[in-house]
Amino acid sequence: MTPNEYDHLRGYLKQQSGLVLTAEKQYLIESRLLPVARKAGLASISALVAKMKEPGQSVLCDAVVEAMTTNESFFFRDKTPFEHFVDTMLPSMLQARSRERRLRIWCAAASTGQEPYSLAMCLKEQEAKLAGWRIEIVGTDLSNEVLEKAKAGVYSQFEVQRGLPINHLLKYFTQNGDTWQISSTLRSMVQYRKLNLLEAFSSLGQFDIVFCRNVLIYFDNPTKIDILGRISKQMPADGFLVLGAAETVVGLTDAFKPMTEKRGLYQLNGAAAGSGAVRGLATGTTGAPASAFSSAAPRFSVVPR
Ligand SMILES: C[S@@+](CC[C@H](N)C(=O)[O-])C[C@H]1O[C@@H](n2cnc3c(N)ncnc32)[C@H](O)[C@@H]1O
Repeated sequence: MTPNEYDHLRGYLKQQSGLVLTAEKQYLIESRLLPVARKAGLASISALVAKMKEPGQSVLCDAVVEAMTTNESFFFRDKTPFEHFVDTMLPSMLQARSRERRLRIWCAAASTGQEPYSLAMCLKEQEAKLAGWRIEIVGTDLSNEVLEKAKAGVYSQFEVQRGLPINHLLKYFTQNGDTWQISSTLRSMVQYRKLNLLEAFSSLGQFDIVFCRNVLIYFDNPTKIDILGRISKQMPADGFLVLGAAETVVGLTDAFKPMTEKRGLYQLNGAAAGSGAVRGLATGTTGAPASAFSSAAPRFSVVPR
């Protein structure tokens, strides 16, 4: 690959996904894109770059962007955010939304589903407190491939051994040969959408809780500032934002403030809060209660498939 080809790929990836590759990351491009090139019948990265420049190559170009995303995820990753979810965010929201009994949660880089399903398990464990509540979890990601895996909810032995308590594995998964299928109840609690965070997302509606973890880390500061600013507009004044362990709002935006002694947890600074008026997905998936629960039990939105 020539320096020009490398610069072309860097510029393309930055524009399409926000991914910033420093000059010394050429090895990453080669290791991730050679398989894409070979699959397309191309002998080298140079040939891949040339093909991408031809008209009508959107499938190939998407494959390049997807191959360069890092999709690493695991159940209950970093543990603390899920403890904050159960001990801080849920109690606060159960009180604040006690009249409408509705809660919307967004996993903004859901990858292969471990994060939204971890939240769904937390909710199931709190089921006794959620009778009559309608709770939506929306998981979005740039990559079709990870979303397909998330929707399927099938995980390898290795994946279920990372972070998932054994009692949750036995309670919420069924073994099928050497893979584990997450229960249909948990699957029905999460709806997945393809979404590039660089693009507009106001049509998703307002979210009380936003998990945006381990994705901003790949972007430059102007991109982080832009995304955080737009997320702040999708949240009511008392909403919660959760970032990854290596991410922060500090030094980037004053739309959010870190919560004291709650690492990774942020709330809106009063003036930046969204109106809270527009709630629900614009495409009309919010109406149906889930069938997973009896009328006395919490109700979760079902993903239309
Ligand atoms: C490292 S995973 C994080 C998964 C999960 N949030 C966690 O912390 O375990 C990052 C995810 O961000 C997605 N991603 C990267 N760029 C994106 C963009 N511009 N818009 C939406 N998702 C993006 C990738 O496809 C990948 O699945």
